[in-house]
Amino acid sequence: MAAREIKTGIYSVGAIDWDRRLFDELIPLPDGTSYNSYLIKGSEKTTLIDTVDPTKEYELISNLGKLGIKVIDYVIANHAEQDHSGSIPKILELYPDAKVVTNPKCKDFLKDLLLIPEDKFITINDRETVSLGNKTLEFISAPWVHWPETMFTFLKEDKILFTCDFLGSHLAASELFVSDEAKVYESAKRYYAEIMMPFRTSIKKHLEVIKGLEVEIIAPSHGLVYPRPEFILNAYKEWVSDEVKNEVIIPYISMHGSTKKMVDYLVDVLIERCINVKPFNLTKTDIGELAISLVDAATIIIASPTVLAGTHPYVAHATFLVNALRPKLRFASVIGSYGWGGRMLEQIKGMLTNLKIDVIEPVIIKGFPRGEALKALDELADNILKKHKEYNIT
Ligand code: FEO
Repeated sequence: MAAREIKTGIYSVGAIDWDRRLFDELIPLPDGTSYNSYLIKGSEKTTLIDTVDPTKEYELISNLGKLGIKVIDYVIANHAEQDHSGSIPKILELYPDAKVVTNPKCKDFLKDLLLIPEDKFITINDRETVSLGNKTLEFISAPWVHWPETMFTFLKEDKILFTCDFLGSHLAASELFVSDEAKVYESAKRYYAEIMMPFRTSIKKHLEVIKGLEVEIIAPSHGLVYPRPEFILNAYKEWVSDEVKNEVIIPYISMHGSTKKMVDYLVDVLIERCINVKPFNLTKTDIGELAISLVDAATIIIASPTVLAGTHPYVAHATFLVNALRPKLRFASVIGSYGWGGRMLEQIKGMLTNLKIDVIEPVIIKGFPRGEALKALDELADNILKKHKEYNIT
């Protein structure tokens, strides 16, 4: 990626990763990603805001070379995760006078993760500033988006907020600024669902802090730059709100068709009751799609066969993830089939301890669903409808 000017003296100098398809060896990246790094030339000091994943450090160095950067005074570390901090050691090697400016917690991480020596740091605290001459950087503590040390950097004169992971999107694209908001909305929602959703409460507070700043541009460290900050701020406001939608999601596995028949039947009877429903066959689905659905859904029905006396391992994986992502679900239930017994239901229920949910009567049957089993699924759909109505979920 070439170095590109955002405003006079402010450049995007990071890298696009077109090919990356998995993050943290867990999160699917259907659209790749980028590691955005920003260079600010002040009248007296030059600073770099975050770096790039070490696999892409050559691109960062090359961009700095194209801009003729001979001296970097400060490297701001908004976040210690290696996709942003991993090239700091290389920058310190090439620009030996540079100091890493960050908060005490982030400094500790960088010392542990990247072995950066103590004398390379300048430590700052919440709302402290650093002058670049004609430009001023203000540091804003924003813990838990999504690590405990995260912060934002606000370039006051240009009204640009550098948010690192927060408000970003895993999207490889040649544009610098968002122009197609609908496309970015989808990527940003996936990013929120996979990474930020467990920190909904902290995020609400950070959105209030941002409201108090005069922000004209938001420059995250993944995806595109927002020239219209209200677009992404409004989207986040909706995602972190306590509102849920009249929607049921059904992650499922079926080995010989019994559980699948139950899922198909339940999908139909929910549709008949005007409830939106999304089944996810866990052998086929991108787990990120399931995460996106968790942002808004009121209810989850986990559907599993019984394997070796317990739940199917793929269902266990999805259930573990649902619990870890802490979505704002209100209701949950379990459906499934067994041949000769087992503890599938207890296992699944025991994996949802993070969620503040009401459990609706499960439907666990022996063999292929018929008669009474189908009637129980009708009742489950009735119960879901009743609960959604009771809580005014539309
Ligand atoms: Fe993009 Fe938390 O790293």
